[in-house]
Amino acid sequence: MKWLPLLDQYDDLANLQQYCSQCRRCGLRDNARGVVFGDGDPGARLMFVGEAPGADEDRLGKPFVGAAGQLLEKIMGSVELQRSDVYIANIAKCRPPGNRLPNQEEAEACFVYLVRQIELIQPRMIVCLGGLATQYLVHKDARVTLVRGNVYEKGSIKIIPTFHPSAILRDANKKKPVWDDFKKIKELYDQT
Ligand code: URA
Repeated sequence: MKWLPLLDQYDDLANLQQYCSQCRRCGLRDNARGVVFGDGDPGARLMFVGEAPGADEDRLGKPFVGAAGQLLEKIMGSVELQRSDVYIANIAKCRPPGNRLPNQEEAEACFVYLVRQIELIQPRMIVCLGGLATQYLVHKDARVTLVRGNVYEKGSIKIIPTFHPSAILRDANKKKPVWDDFKKIKELYDQT
């Protein structure tokens, strides 16, 4: 993996976003309308990390604004969390063609931006939405089915994996575990 030590010079989200908007570290930008950098409160205590933008996100330039995003907001609302309380980003910031998952090369090329976003936002908690975020933020071999709802600590940040909202849209049996995870997330959030 090629790291970008020079990202240290981007000392706020606005100038990091400006730099990221010109990124060509992988081929995804060739087919995407633009970079979907992230959205929300730059001082948020809680961050959500998903996979990659889909068609709606690519069109509107914001993460989680399509069907999965609407469901995410509904789940957050059920534990009295607003979208404006949190910061939302993805592992890959450009839409992969056909809504496939980003491949390893693409995810690794983009991960440096997420790392810098985390350094700048300094959240107390990160919720990994789905397997890809869990593998990048918890452990490369982690399986979200096995680790969801657990609380991992990286430095001062608590990391909690749960299923991706798209997984609930495909399989209603995942609804209850995700609601349970969000109750735990809210309890921890209220303590931070
Ligand atoms: N799914 C994701 O993982 N991220 C988005 O931004 C939208 C859908």
